[in-house]
Amino acid sequence: MSRPVVVVTRRLPEAIEQELAERFDVRLNRNDTPLSPVALAEAMKSADALLCTVTDRITAQHFSVPGRRARVLANFGVGVNHIDLDAARAAGVMVTNTPDVLTDDTADVAIGLMLMTMRRLSEGERHARTGAWSGWRPTHMLGRSLTGKRLGIVGYGRIGRAVARRAASAFGMQVQWWAPREPTIHDEATAGPANAQRAQSFEELLRSSDVVSLHCPATPETYHLMNEHTMSLMLPDAVLINTSRGNVIDEHALVHVLRERIIGGAGLDVYEFEPTVLPDLRDFETVVLLPHLGSATVETRHAMGRRAMHNLELALAGEAPPDRVA
Ligand code: DGY
Repeated sequence: MSRPVVVVTRRLPEAIEQELAERFDVRLNRNDTPLSPVALAEAMKSADALLCTVTDRITAQHFSVPGRRARVLANFGVGVNHIDLDAARAAGVMVTNTPDVLTDDTADVAIGLMLMTMRRLSEGERHARTGAWSGWRPTHMLGRSLTGKRLGIVGYGRIGRAVARRAASAFGMQVQWWAPREPTIHDEATAGPANAQRAQSFEELLRSSDVVSLHCPATPETYHLMNEHTMSLMLPDAVLINTSRGNVIDEHALVHVLRERIIGGAGLDVYEFEPTVLPDLRDFETVVLLPHLGSATVETRHAMGRRAMHNLELALAGEAPPDRVA
């Protein structure tokens, strides 16, 4: 019996590509360049499923492409804002993602960015690396302690709560969070720390946090949630951390509030115009920039591959995959 054709849009860890090849008739992307809109449309016509990821913008046009064969999109990643889910539903194409397996690593990067910004670690590393360092002195490059500070978490899903647990237990931070709804928590191990408080409002959280960390999905409601007005509510030396999606922050407004010293700094792993990093952002010593590394560990990328593969197998067999989002 012929096996389902699966287009894999980017290179995956070798073991995952091999396991995929054992199960499906796979079309791998050996040179790893992102597929163009035309190549994605071709894939929708020639394959039963796509194993796609954040660099693929899959629009309504792709779902209505004449002669479409694809009926499943198994996304490698938890965020699915690059896929038009309404169009997928209307076309009857199933979409899955890879939650849970990347929670801890992404939370670690958020904590890493907090330490890097508050303690000026990137700046210090540049100082040592460029030979500018002249020796220890009591007043050299003083940052701010993370211990005991107030952390405001925006979006209290799995990753937000994992950040809250780390911040409370490792740094004694006082955690407050804001989300439009109470989270549904199925298991104690993934709950937030017992003393975390729900902020009275988003604005109240911004006004009273030393660190604001974003963990909400990219939706029309969260587009530019952090804009000139909302960032100007933050404390003057507060730092803004983003490991969620770039367009939750209006980056031009971020440049403005940093330049005017309305906030103290920012630690970013994701960008509004990804992979472009605004040149102005690169100039600030108070900003730490990472290239979307949240889930980038060997362990997690393998786990994400296996999770996407499991979803694919079930969806293509006509069974219910665990991580269906559309
Ligand atoms: C995720 O899982 O959403 C990562 O940001 C990669 O897409």
